[in-house]
Amino acid sequence: MKLTETVKSGDWKNEKHVPVLHVEKVDGAFNIRAIVGEEIEHPNTLEHHIGWIKVFFQPEDFSAPVEVASQVFSAHGEGELFSKPEVFATVKSEKGGKVFALSYCNIHGLWENAVEV
Ligand SMILES: [Fe+2]
Repeated sequence: MKLTETVKSGDWKNEKHVPVLHVEKVDGAFNIRAIVGEEIEHPNTLEHHIGWIKVFFQPEDFSAPVEVASQVFSAHGEGELFSKPEVFATVKSEKGGKVFALSYCNIHGLWENAVEV
């Protein structure tokens, strides 16, 4: 089995691992927000947490997704601090395309979502 075959997806309203994508175009740039657990909060403990989210943008005439943001979430209850699994990215682009988010849960693996922009 390939790693890519392990990546899961689903309806973020029912599946807490799927990263939710909000994208709006303002002044020639895409403002991107990716968040895990917007509808159903994901656990954030040392034993079970979201480790990171990456965001990719594939312009309509480009052959591969380009990584535009990557964030690691490091606080899972130490000192009663909790990193919120959320990423903000602003990408200047004249072209539309597809925005992807990939998230990683240390127990449940890789999850993806995508939107056309
Ligand atoms: Fe999980």
